[in-house]
Amino acid sequence: MVYPAQQHVINTFTRLIHLLPPTEKAKPHAILLAGEDTSYRHDTDRELSFRQESNFFYLSGCSVPSSHLLCVYEASTGLSQNPSISLFLHEATISDLMWSPAPPTKEDAKSLFEATSVEYTDKLMDTIQTVAKIPDILFHTLPRGSPKFPVLLEEYTGAILNTDAAISDAYLLTALGRARLTKDAHEIELIERANQISSRAHEVVMRVLGAAVKGKIQREAAAAKGERPLLPGEWLIEKEAEAEAIFVASCRREGSVHQAYLPIVAAASRASTLHYCCNDRDFAWGPVGAHDHKNHNALASSDKDLNPQVLLIDAGCEWDCYASDITRTMPVGNSGKFTPEARAIYELVLEMQKLSMEALRPGIHWDAIQLLCHRTLVRGFQKLGIFLTSESPGSGSWNSEEAILASGVSAAFFPHGVGHSLGMDVHDVPHASKPTNNDTIGNELGHSSFYQYLRLRLPLEEGMVVTVEPGCYFSPHLLASVRDSRHINHEVLKKYESVGGVRIEDVVLITANGHRNLTTVRSDVAWVEGVCSGEL
Ligand code: GLY
Ligand code: MN
Ligand code: MN
Repeated sequence: MVYPAQQHVINTFTRLIHLLPPTEKAKPHAILLAGEDTSYRHDTDRELSFRQESNFFYLSGCSVPSSHLLCVYEASTGLSQNPSISLFLHEATISDLMWSPAPPTKEDAKSLFEATSVEYTDKLMDTIQTVAKIPDILFHTLPRGSPKFPVLLEEYTGAILNTDAAISDAYLLTALGRARLTKDAHEIELIERANQISSRAHEVVMRVLGAAVKGKIQREAAAAKGERPLLPGEWLIEKEAEAEAIFVASCRREGSVHQAYLPIVAAASRASTLHYCCNDRDFAWGPVGAHDHKNHNALASSDKDLNPQVLLIDAGCEWDCYASDITRTMPVGNSGKFTPEARAIYELVLEMQKLSMEALRPGIHWDAIQLLCHRTLVRGFQKLGIFLTSESPGSGSWNSEEAILASGVSAAFFPHGVGHSLGMDVHDVPHASKPTNNDTIGNELGHSSFYQYLRLRLPLEEGMVVTVEPGCYFSPHLLASVRDSRHINHEVLKKYESVGGVRIEDVVLITANGHRNLTTVRSDVAWVEGVCSGEL
């Protein structure tokens, strides 16, 4: 199926015209975009991994480096017969072909992309000059001179400025953001594919952990002595890097070229660092108690055992420029079972996610989901005794659920937002995810700190794709600010601090009546422990 670039161009012109002042709306409009070039590592000739700029891909479906796009809409002919989409490709030279695979020819490209015409870049200047002659035409570009977007050469913008045509970079980015905020069936399919591949990769990591607990991964004797390297299937996961390697390998072998973001693979207390992505530490080891805190067969000849700890993996691959973003938190050590404290926190985060999911539907404001998560966390902490209640000895109404919510203390444990829009980028369309002055903001109940890092602040609409990713963390940096809080039983809190952090993150589509979860890897305690202990 060809990527629906034409519909995306129509969506973008529709949004663009909506944003323009009345005097400009009826004019002819053009969109001129540069695609991403191949880039190189600093002062070398080594290519960096190529990824098309998201807006360029949205309007073209084209991932060929150094392409350009010129779309023209003339109001009088209506949007359904319009606009024209002209794609300009770099024509490969012999030396390009010597070093790199051949890009599509312009003839190939006509069947690969939904473009009205495909030419090589040498025709771009003439075409710009012809389009610039359309009376009253207004060219739109992404912010020029911004390092966030591919460079549109001055020779092209200068050619427009030399004519009577006007050029503006004030509207296109907002129009693209608004258009990209809701997804069509083709985009949903790509996001679903990325989620399925990433879901399997999370499960693969858990199954390798479980196989090790059951002694099913035996290092071949010669390999263990260092006489030959370990073969796939002989690896244990004993450090963050090994978990990352297995996750990425699983995605790569299913054809995904990129991760959608640097994987976050954090064991033990590192799970409290939200964007930990160095992934370079061993799991915590040590002689442990005489009871069952062992990953029995993980290292058959060692006198050390894995400490009971969590392993938080926040990772998702990209499929054809569409992202996934999944977090699972799993038990390591303790025979692949959570400790009682880790299980209690895990179940609380799962409850925050479950109640959030149940509330999802078009019209509900994302702020309300954020508040719901804080309310659920406060209730859960009161049940666990980490927060006091108004009935606690020596307590009073200042420890009611509402009072604790109003104090903002829960933000020390759940400091980030419950989720964000996801699409071509993992934190998708940031400039379209917050209200402009004229839109209504959410209710902002609770405490203003709940909303500080909330990346989406809009009512939900059918077709949006969002992550639902509550978490609960015991970060020494954040706890420092609540060490003297009168809402906290500090003795009880101490018992939980070694859990580090738990986050559970799924990607969901907002449907007409609710939501559909696009993430397929399970997160219920019975399944996660069953797989990580090798029992399932
Ligand atoms: N992986 C980054 C996030 O969950 O937002
Ligand atoms: Mn994530
Ligand atoms: Mn996320």
